[in-house]
Order: sequence, then C-alpha cells, then structure tokens
Amino acid sequence: MIKNGYAAWVDEFEAERERRAALGDPDWRRGAQLPPELVRSIQKFQVGEDGDGSALLGKADRAGDPVYAEAARLFVAEERNHARMLALLLEAGGAGTLDGHWSDAVFVRVRRLLGLRVELLVLMIAEVVALAYYRALRDGAGDQLASEVAGRILADERRHVPFHCLRLNEGLSRLPRPARRAVTAGWRGLLSCAGLLVAVDHGPALRTVGVSRRAFVAEVSRTSAPMASAMADGPVAVPATVPAAV
Ligand SMILES: [Fe+2]
Ligand SMILES: [Fe+2]
Repeated sequence: MIKNGYAAWVDEFEAERERRAALGDPDWRRGAQLPPELVRSIQKFQVGEDGDGSALLGKADRAGDPVYAEAARLFVAEERNHARMLALLLEAGGAGTLDGHWSDAVFVRVRRLLGLRVELLVLMIAEVVALAYYRALRDGAGDQLASEVAGRILADERRHVPFHCLRLNEGLSRLPRPARRAVTAGWRGLLSCAGLLVAVDHGPALRTVGVSRRAFVAEVSRTSAPMASAMADGPVAVPATVPAAV
C-alpha cells in the first residue's frame, strides 16, 4: 500500500521533470527589477534551497525502501532546481548569490544529527514557510520574471508537502494516538517559531511584496493545521489529487 504510494510519487516527480524540460526555463534575458531588500531575502532563500534535501538522501537510502529512496532523489533534484532558478533570477536582477548564511548552516548541522522521521519534520517546517514565502513573492513582487520563478517553485512545494506527509504518517502510525498528536502539536509550535523568525528576518522584503509580518506568521500557522492532522491521522493526498498551484 505504502509502496504503491511511493511508486505514484516516483511517477509524479518523473512526469514533472518531463513537463519542466518541455516548458523550458523562464526567459532570463528579460531581466528583473528587484529592490535591494528583495535581493537580500531571495539570496538567503537561495542558500536554503541549495541545501534542502541533501541531508535526507543518506537516511532515505538506509530506510530500506528503494522506491522511497528514488522518490526522495527526485524530490531533492526539484529543490536543487529551485536553487538554480533563484540564482539565475538574482543574476537577471544584477545580483549574485551568497556563499552561505548562518541560519542555513545551523539548520543543516542540526538536521545531520536527526533520524529520518525528525529530519522530515524539520524539512516540513522549511516547506511550509516556503509555501507562504513564494506565494507572497509570486503575488507581490511586481516583476514578471520574479513572479514566474516564484510561481514555478510554489507549484513544486505544494507537491512536496503531501510527499513528506505520506512518509511521516507511516512513521508516526507506530505511535499511540496521543503521542502522535503531541508530536504534531510540537511540530506546529516549532513551525510558528520558524515563521516568526523568517517574518522578522525578511520583514522588509515581505513589506515590499505587500505582506505584513503578522499576516505571514498567521498564514504559516493556518496552513499547517490540515498538514498536522494528515501526518497524525491521515488521509494523505495522493499525487493525482494534489493541485498544481494555488
Ligand atoms: Fe524548494
Ligand atoms: Fe520543497
């Protein structure tokens, strides 16, 4: 049953890879008008996207399900594509990328210490924050190229959430119900803290795209409720029912 679920995800990620190849890249020659606060913010997300998922692969391999490991590899390829597109967007706006950022270095170091389940819970925090961030960027950047890149990344992140939820639902199902609820309540608490940190750190950029810090934190918290319940009790959306965009 679970294995079929991951096989469906392999199909979905491969189909998406083909869709991406057929569509081609955005037209980078169009250039981008990015205010400095947006450049600084996108640079930090670019660093995060670059590292996203790489800590997962060894653990996915050791989990003993080659179909899941294959799906995880395809997922990581999508995250790397996000980093690539953000780097090209920055270049189109006349800006470079950062070598690294302290928050990302901490994030990666902590994740290396974790098992697959906790790694995925931490990764899910990044995914949910990313959903709110790229939606804000897509809708408020006021630049065609930036909106297009953010829209493409957002569509991918929307699919990543149920992919991770499936594995977490399987992992957590071994715990009694109150323990599952406690884990997901703790996850939502940490997520709110992460949302708050990002809202503070990226406040000027969020203001530029028309989203207040408070609205950003509220959005992160609101969207996590159905995810927490899917992780704890299911059902988890299957690839065919995941909407391509919001
Ligand atoms: Fe991403
Ligand atoms: Fe993602």
